[in-house]
Amino acid sequence: MNRRRIAVLISGRGSNMVSLIEAAQKTEFPGEIALVLSNRPDAGGLERAKASGIEALAIDHKAYSTRESFEQAIDEALRSRDIDFVCLAGFMRVLTSWFVERWEGRMINIHPSLLPLFRGTHTHKRALEEGVLVHGCTVHFVVPELDAGPIVAQAVVPVIPGDTEDSLAKRVLAQEHLLYPQALRMICDGRASLDRGRVLFTKGWNAEGALRSPS
Ligand code: GAR
Repeated sequence: MNRRRIAVLISGRGSNMVSLIEAAQKTEFPGEIALVLSNRPDAGGLERAKASGIEALAIDHKAYSTRESFEQAIDEALRSRDIDFVCLAGFMRVLTSWFVERWEGRMINIHPSLLPLFRGTHTHKRALEEGVLVHGCTVHFVVPELDAGPIVAQAVVPVIPGDTEDSLAKRVLAQEHLLYPQALRMICDGRASLDRGRVLFTKGWNAEGALRSPS
């Protein structure tokens, strides 16, 4: 199978991007990270990508007068590099329906909560306020509605008495780093795909790929 060409879109430190790069460095991984793109020229992740020998590109949203023209520039960058698949990894710009529809079924995101709970921001703070006993992260296909797309994979962590926003974020992030490469692998090798608004798991659903839970 041809390795799929993947772009990772970031806005900050890029720790999930690093976990994807490291996973894709294994020769048997069915995809290669061909581009890292940030809307913030000062994103720490850009340097980390370059250090791994990956093209790192900044397209500063502030340089564009409209959301559409900014997204057109991103779209052009992706298409000119023959990108097959897009991973949002801490990319903090809301995308328009135009862009999302162009990449329908070919763009996933990682979100730091067990969706559909806690869409949007400050997920760990809100989980603590609600007193939930389990929390986690989700990889989902991107649809125009924010954090609402069909779910590919989830990881669960316990919320432990005395947890702070930081301690909970750390526990979730450790799972994000394991979950995102697993989910991307399932998509690149065709085990998970978007089919009429649902995720279709073929060649057998594998709990190790789609679900991580506390022991
Ligand atoms: C991650 O926790 C990711 O789930 C979250 O931003 C962080 C990025 O960290 N994404 C969102 O909140 C998207 N709505 P990273 O730059 O170290 O990967």
